[in-house]
Amino acid sequence: MTEKTSKKYRIAWLPGDGIGIEVLEAAKIILDKLNLPAEYIHGDIGWQFWCTEGDAFPQRTIDLLNNVDASLFGAITSKPVKAAEAELIPELKGKGLVYRSPIVRMRQLFDLYICLRPCKAYPGNPLNFKEGIDLVMFRENTEDLYAGVEFNPVPPELAETLTKLSKNFAPFKDIPGDQYAISTKINTRKGSERIIRAAFDFARQFGRKKVTVIHKANVVRATDGLFLETAKEVAKQYPEIKMDDANIDAMCMWLLKNPFNYDVLVAPNLYGDIISDLCAQMVGGLGFGCSGNIGEKLAVFEPTHGSAPKYSGQYKVNPIATILAVKMMLDWLGEKDMGEALEKATAEVIREGKTRTYDMGGSNTTLDMAEAIAAKLC
Ligand code: NAI
Ligand code: MG
Repeated sequence: MTEKTSKKYRIAWLPGDGIGIEVLEAAKIILDKLNLPAEYIHGDIGWQFWCTEGDAFPQRTIDLLNNVDASLFGAITSKPVKAAEAELIPELKGKGLVYRSPIVRMRQLFDLYICLRPCKAYPGNPLNFKEGIDLVMFRENTEDLYAGVEFNPVPPELAETLTKLSKNFAPFKDIPGDQYAISTKINTRKGSERIIRAAFDFARQFGRKKVTVIHKANVVRATDGLFLETAKEVAKQYPEIKMDDANIDAMCMWLLKNPFNYDVLVAPNLYGDIISDLCAQMVGGLGFGCSGNIGEKLAVFEPTHGSAPKYSGQYKVNPIATILAVKMMLDWLGEKDMGEALEKATAEVIREGKTRTYDMGGSNTTLDMAEAIAAKLC
């Protein structure tokens, strides 16, 4: 007989590899202290499952994600393994497998089209670039250069069509297909519109003044042109919110020069990936960068950092990125009071400066930090 659970939420628990396991242990200390009425269901994901099963994101984990309210994910180790290299792994020999990143696959499979990355400088963080930074990045999460439509080598029929269609520069003309590669940048009007709308809705809901659209429409006219044109259309429906736009290259410069000129940012996938790392660095680096992959039915929250193999097993890294991801998850579940309390406790520990991990110049462990934050939650 299966036992009935009285818990309110089902949370998929995906530690992954390396420090992913350690930062999720820290997250559990926080969630236990908050007493969130939830059951946490472990899911297999990561490098070890690729090595043993040829799948870093097994079907049983996909099934789990289809049956939960939200998910917390640590980090995975990801390596671009080609078919020839997979042949060297005894378990995978003869299967003709090529490695695929489980994260990118998860985002596409569950249509987690919003990548939400808040970057706030908590007062007292010795790693802040400037005090007072409070930026929110909306990165499109399923299309663009990450759509996965790539060719290496390039098949002759594609080369022929492109040569016929390209009126201007055609560097591939008369070059053998194994001497160049093509990664396509695909942006749809629907995909652009929904991420831009999410950014404007957020600005409206939280009283933010401005949305900045990031692109390179003067050069990448088709795809980025579509993104910018769509943004201008959407902006008309939000007259109280200012919209401006900037080229990705100039944006890097302006953000460093004066981050206070910006508020909510929205970008296609690749530019969003780059700019959100830049923003994360301005508020403390990878130990502080949190992320929500959000769709209509499912949301997966994670620190933006990877599995940091060099620190794996040492309980040395900063769990704050993951703890802020927990805060985002609580907000998304509608547990606003818990989310607020957690942010307040985290901010207090940062401000006091008594507990600091190595990146902040201290020697406390991952779990010391979680305990210090949990102690502020009563
Ligand atoms: P990484 O993000 O794992 O670590 C780079 C460096 O950042 C670390 O060596 C460490 O100095 C610092 N760092 C990372 N997290 C930190 C934390 N919580 N506190 C303090 N310092 C921290 O990136 P790396 O080393 O380039 O990649 C390692 C593996 O992770 C690769 O296999 C990569 O593909 C994968 N990766 C996975 C991601 C994910 O699971 N979402 C994202 C990025 C990389
Ligand atoms: Mg990244």
